[in-house]
Formats: sequence, C-alpha cells, structure tokens
Amino acid sequence: MSHEKDIKRMRELERELEYHSHKYYVDNAPEISDFDFDALLRELQELESRYPEFADANSPTKRVGSDLTTEFQSVEHRYAMQSLSNTYSSEELGEWIDRIRREIGDVEFVCELKFDGTAISLTYENGALLRAVTRGDGRRGDDVTNNVRTIGSIPLKLCSEGYPAMFEIRGEIYMPYASFDRLNNEREMAGEPLLANPRNAAAGTLKQQSSKVVAERGLDCTLYHIAVDEPIKSTHWENLLEAKRWGFKVSEHIKVCRTREEIEKFIAYWDTERKHLPYATDGIVIKVNSYAHQRTLGSTAKAPRWAVAYKFQAEKALTKLLSVDFQVGRTGAVTPVANLDPVQLAGTVVKRASIHNADQIELLDIRIGDMVYVEKGGEIIPKITGVELSMRPADSTPFEYITHCPECGTELVRYEGEAKHFCPNTKECKPQIIGRIVHFVSRKAMNIEGLGGETIELLWESGMLRDIADIYHLDPIQLASLPRLGEKSASNIIEGVRQSTDVPFERVLFALGIRFVGETTARYLASHFRTLDAIANASVEELSEAEEVGAKIAVAITDYFASEDNRRIVETLRESGLQFEAKDKVQTSNALEGKSVVISGKFAGRSRDDMKALVEEHGGRNLAAVSANVDFIVAGENMGPAKLQKAQKLGITILSEEEFMSLISSAEPTVAPQAEEQKASTENIAIQGTLF
Ligand code: IVH
Repeated sequence: MSHEKDIKRMRELERELEYHSHKYYVDNAPEISDFDFDALLRELQELESRYPEFADANSPTKRVGSDLTTEFQSVEHRYAMQSLSNTYSSEELGEWIDRIRREIGDVEFVCELKFDGTAISLTYENGALLRAVTRGDGRRGDDVTNNVRTIGSIPLKLCSEGYPAMFEIRGEIYMPYASFDRLNNEREMAGEPLLANPRNAAAGTLKQQSSKVVAERGLDCTLYHIAVDEPIKSTHWENLLEAKRWGFKVSEHIKVCRTREEIEKFIAYWDTERKHLPYATDGIVIKVNSYAHQRTLGSTAKAPRWAVAYKFQAEKALTKLLSVDFQVGRTGAVTPVANLDPVQLAGTVVKRASIHNADQIELLDIRIGDMVYVEKGGEIIPKITGVELSMRPADSTPFEYITHCPECGTELVRYEGEAKHFCPNTKECKPQIIGRIVHFVSRKAMNIEGLGGETIELLWESGMLRDIADIYHLDPIQLASLPRLGEKSASNIIEGVRQSTDVPFERVLFALGIRFVGETTARYLASHFRTLDAIANASVEELSEAEEVGAKIAVAITDYFASEDNRRIVETLRESGLQFEAKDKVQTSNALEGKSVVISGKFAGRSRDDMKALVEEHGGRNLAAVSANVDFIVAGENMGPAKLQKAQKLGITILSEEEFMSLISSAEPTVAPQAEEQKASTENIAIQGTLF
C-alpha cells in the first residue's frame, strides 16, 4: 500500500470507528460485533504507530486512554458555568412559575431529569472536540480533555451538519449504577475504601491522572445545554434536537410543558419511575424554552432566573431487620449495625444499615423482625429512619441492648454527654488496638503503604505489633517470614515506615488518634502550639485558646497525655525520628496581613478548609465566630441566617468567593515567581481591584 493510501485508510477507519461508537454508546444499537470493532481499532492503531504525524488528536484510539499522567490545566470558561436554584416543594415551584408569568406572560417550559454526576463543558471547533473542562468555580475549571475522550458516548467528531463553527455544549458526566457496582466490588476485593456514591465516583474518576483508568471505569455523559453566541434555533428544545442530530447523547426523558399541572405530573411520574433508571438522578430541572424569554429573564450572580431544579426527597425502601451486629471502633465506641433482608435502594442492593446508638433504637423502638425504612444519605452505609408499626409481628419484643463488649467481654460504659456505649478496655480489646494502628498508618495520617488492616492483624497476632510505636521497630527478616507477605512486601513496608518519618507534624498529631482530634483540629493545634511538647504540657484552658478547640477536645487531649502508656508511646515515636514540630508555612502574600476572617457556607470552587488555608497563606487569621473582631466574612452558599444577621448588625464587610479570590490574587507575591506562577494557573480570577 502506498503512503497516500494508508493515510486515506486512517481517515476512513476514524470515521467508521466513530460511527460504530455512536451506534454502541449513544443509540444502544451496535451494528458490528465487539470483535470486528477491535479489529478495526487495531488496524488504526497500527497505522498510527507507523504514521504518528498523521494521527488525529481526536482519533477513536484515544478512547482507550493512556498511562501518561496528566497535569490538569486551569482554563477559563467562555461562558460562566452557573448552578441552578433549588426548590423542594410544589409551593416554591408555583411561586417560580408565577414570577415568570408575571414578567413574560404565557411561556413554554422544558422539563428534564437532573442527572446526579459532575458537570462538564465541551468545546467543539469545526465539528471536532477541542476541549473538555470541569465546572471548577464556575469561571475556571480543569482541562480534562484526555480523560473525557475515553467516554464512549461523547463524540470526538460530529456527524451530520449544521453545527456552529465553534460552540460549547454542557452536560453531566455520571457513572451508571452498573459501572459503580462493578468498581466498588473490585475495590472491596482489593481491600480499598469504597466510593460513597456514583456522583463522587464520577467526579473522582474524571480527575484521575491516567486516562487509561478513566477508560476502564465506564462513565457516561448526557448533554443538556448549548452555549453559543448565536443559537441555531430559537428554543432550547429545538437546540437539543439539533445536538442529538450532530451525535450527542441527549436525554429521551424531556418534555415541553405549558401548565403547572403538566410540570407537576412530570415530577410525580419521575419521582417513582427514576428508580428504574440505570443512573442516579436527584431531581427535575425546569427551563424556560424560548431563548428570547431566557434573555429577558437573565441571571442572578449565581444562577439563571429562567431555570430551576426541583429536588427529590431521598429514596426510601422498606425491608426486614434480620439481626443487629455490634462493631467496636478504635476509640472503643460501640456501633450497632443492622443486617437487613437485601433490598434495592437508589440503584444498589442494601444489606446493612447503621442505627447509630442505643438511644436511636429506643427512640424508634426498633425490634428484630420489624419492617424498617432505610434511606441513603451522603454516606456509604444507609441508615434506618423508621419502623412500619402496622407490620410488626404480634410476638415481637423490645430490643435489648448489649451490656458487655462483643469482642473482649468487658462491661460497657456510657460517658456523660455521649450517645454511644464504650468498651473501656483500651489496652487489650483487639479491634481497638488494630483500629488505632490502622488509623495511624492511613493515607491522611502517616500514609504507610503496604500495611493494610489484614497485615496489621497478622502482625498483632504474631506478637510483632502491640501498639503504634512498634511499627518503627519492625524487623524486615521477621516480616518477610510471615505467611502471605514475602520479601518484596516486607521491604515495601519498611520503606513506607522510613518515609513516614518525614510526615509533617500536624499529620503525626492526627495519626496519634486522640479522641476528637480530627485532621482540621490537628492542623489548628499544630499551628497554635508548634510542638508536641507544648500541646502535651498545656492545660485545658490553654488548649481551648487554639482555634476550634472547645472544652471537650481540650479535656480529651489532656486525658490522652495523662496516660502513662500514651506518654511511653509518644517517647518511643520521638526516638524513632517522627516530626514533633511544625515547620514554617510558606506565606504567599501579605494581602490579608492583620485581617481576621470568617469563612462561612459552601463554596463553588473549593472546600471550606481550602479557603481557610488560603486565608493563612495570605497572612490572615481564621476566626470561627462572627464578632466585632472580624474584618470580613467570605460567604458561600447556605451561610447561616443567624450569622448573616449578626454580620449585618455589626456592619462587617461580606465578600463573595469571587471577590475574595480577586482580593488575594491581586496581591503582591512574597515568594519566588515560579511558585506564584503555579498558583496563578490554578486560581486565576479576574482582578476587580483591591478592597482595602
Ligand atoms: S442546566 C445554566 N440541566 O445540576 C443552566 N443542569 O445544580 C445549566 N444538572 O451544575 C444547568 N442535570 O451539573 C441543567 N438537565 C440538567 C441537569 C443539570 C444535572 C446539574 C448541572 C448543574 C447542577 C446545578
């Protein structure tokens, strides 16, 4: 074959493979077998390796992903990615409709499913996928194009004609339940932590460093909004039909509605019917159909006025409570866990649920054999929320809570103000010891790889590990001789242990497992006291001076250091070379020098902790409560009304996330230019001038 012929064949294969991908992933109607598809794909791969200079950036071979790791570039959205205002009731929805009618008169609405995944904006230039960007803070997001190319239902090249030369199309990337279950099963077998829900799984997958991993995870994408200067058609509905014609996956479950009744009917239908969908939805989005009307209605700072999301109530299932197990955690806290007759709930089969504590069992009068309601919250384990008394068996008896530890037989105690029962045998009760060690080595603590729960149990049983301090005295030869370990794993563990001596002080403090001292508290304590000795020697009053540390935490800390055993462990850890002192934080600028800031609410682009870290990096001080000492408040979504009222009364400046970002990004850097450059690429926000 001549060179020219090969290139022609490459173009042909690209077109053919793209056509069959669309048939398979979008239309659900494949025309050729997987075997034949793979043969075509291999042919193209081979030609591409022979003529790399002629390989297309959007070649179907990119769908397989690669092992190359990606740094995500921050990219500005041409059109801001807004969120939607939510309503939870029919009344609120009615008010929204009335408001629109008052302003415009009679309008058409489009009702759609609200997909529960992660938003994506795709840019197409001359019919080819140019870029895929996450929502980020709405103005800028991460360029995840390489990962998105692996999603089969996203066209790399558009079919048919009539699309604008350049446009953005938005939609939701989600993980269908089938992919989610498969992934979690694999993780469970590998002893990895489970993913809480398909939404987190989708968002996490999209940020994977290797696009090959993304390709294997089975993501899907449905598009629901076109952003372009000159829309092709005059209504949202018609534009979606066009998008479908170009090759995008557009939901089949959309409907034009003219009355409130029609909208309510659509909502009521999907509120039950969504249980049969193969992916998660969390509401219905109602949009004004005509673009002219959308323009008249405009937007608020956060969301368009022409659209609203009606959120569904959490799904419930009714099933039989078979038995209750009791788990003992690392703090000795006893948690009852319900074993249920397996039941389908929000796309997955539920077999276990948490009941929290004895009071909850008593309050709900939960009994073995009862039919109980289970609901999924944000957590992996669903919870029991009620009992169907009308179905209670005649011979049922009230539940009797255990009095002794199911693991070591010690009598349980209840501490004042604690809802849970505790096993006080901290020294010898196996799950407590193992739990403490597991916590110590966990990723957010000392991050010692290779030491999973099972290995730790093995080491404990063989007498090599009695407490966390023993980790630093593990013998490689002894380790290697253990069943299932071997030399390679043993040397990995030893290396992980060695590296952990560099883990910063705040994480060491967290790793100790002092009650109530979570990651954030550990960070505050470390920055306030600087050394472990200062914390160990501080009184309850002194400890309470650190931010976010109340009396309960302060007492827990003094209790911890009052124990001789703990003091011995801490001394051994010190001798092993762990970091017991805080290193100085790099300060990026002086923009907030001398300012006290309250961060409140939920933010679009970053977590509250990240926001607080930014305050410190720019020389400011975080305060928890609104008082006259506060210079300004950065308010996210859902800032508490009481806080807001107080701030207004005190005349404190309230900044939005964007205003805050522009304030710090306009500041003079105090660090080397290189570091600043890196920062700018992740948080570039339009500079709107300084506020002070
Ligand atoms: S329209 C300007 N339609 O919900 C309007 N959003 O809570 C753009 N979402 O960020 C959004 N399904 O990620 C729209 N059918 C749908 C949707 C949808 C899910 C997500 C989207 C958005 C979030 C707002």
